[in-house]
Amino acid sequence: MNMVSISEDEFKTISGFVYDKFGIKLGEQKKTLIIERLQKILRTGGFSSFGQYFDYIIKEPTGEAVLTFIDKVSTHHTFFFRENDHFDYLNNSALPHLLEKCKSSGEGVDIRIWCAGCSSGEEPYTVAMCVNEFIENNRLRASDISILATDISVTSIEKATGGIYQAPSLAHVPPMFRQKYFTASGDGNFILKPFLRDKVLFRRLNLMRDDYPFKGKFDIIFCRNVMIYFDAPTRASLIGRFHRYTRDGGYLFIGHSESISRTTLIYKYIKPAVYQKA
Ligand SMILES: C[S@@+](CC[C@H](N)C(=O)[O-])C[C@H]1O[C@@H](n2cnc3c(N)ncnc32)[C@H](O)[C@@H]1O
Repeated sequence: MNMVSISEDEFKTISGFVYDKFGIKLGEQKKTLIIERLQKILRTGGFSSFGQYFDYIIKEPTGEAVLTFIDKVSTHHTFFFRENDHFDYLNNSALPHLLEKCKSSGEGVDIRIWCAGCSSGEEPYTVAMCVNEFIENNRLRASDISILATDISVTSIEKATGGIYQAPSLAHVPPMFRQKYFTASGDGNFILKPFLRDKVLFRRLNLMRDDYPFKGKFDIIFCRNVMIYFDAPTRASLIGRFHRYTRDGGYLFIGHSESISRTTLIYKYIKPAVYQKA
């Protein structure tokens, strides 16, 4: 079957649009990937060129076509307990510190966690397992700690709310947690138990917005393996927005392969890929 190829101009227009609207930097080396990822849509939609397809998505009035497009263009790879030392730090340092802070304020426990760029839910549900253990061990109420998870991708959010996962995604889930939080469906899939699924609120959100529709600030923000697709100025302005939405003493977790430029560092460095708002 013939592949539709992309011209220099078409790639420039499409990558410019993706950068302006979603912050994702598509360098020349991503060209083949983009051609492959969009090929099926072009074929089923009957588009003979990338130019024709792009024209359609920006004019399509509901915005659905842009959402389908960015779903295909962005990378959603994730799995449970990815970069596990973050969850050790969450359990042993961040949550105990935040609980102490709440207790000493005398205002009751209210810990708010946000997973920004959560993909299909494996990251926020890993957080939910840790939080559930922490709640049980400290005799807290379920409502004392809340988890919000957001992503730009409609299909990822749909998969996340469905809570059904394939075995490879669970490879790093400790056996005890596998038993406690999942039900094997018999066809090789694992279904998240409803009580854990209900701990996470999923919403679609573009991180490139100037400000976010949240009532309050967060004690912990996870934004891991998302900024890897952004350039330095985009990362710096996103970190600035995160900072505005972090409570004093709150934490920011980023991916281990990502970095925050020291010149724009407004958080205090704690350990690799963990920062705190002073
Ligand atoms: C590779 S996944 C990372 C998932 C998870 N945080 C992890 O570390 O396993 C990157 C996610 O970032 C999302 N993303 C990329 N650009 C975004 C944007 N501008 N706004 C919101 N989400 C975005 C993608 O849709 C994708 O699901």
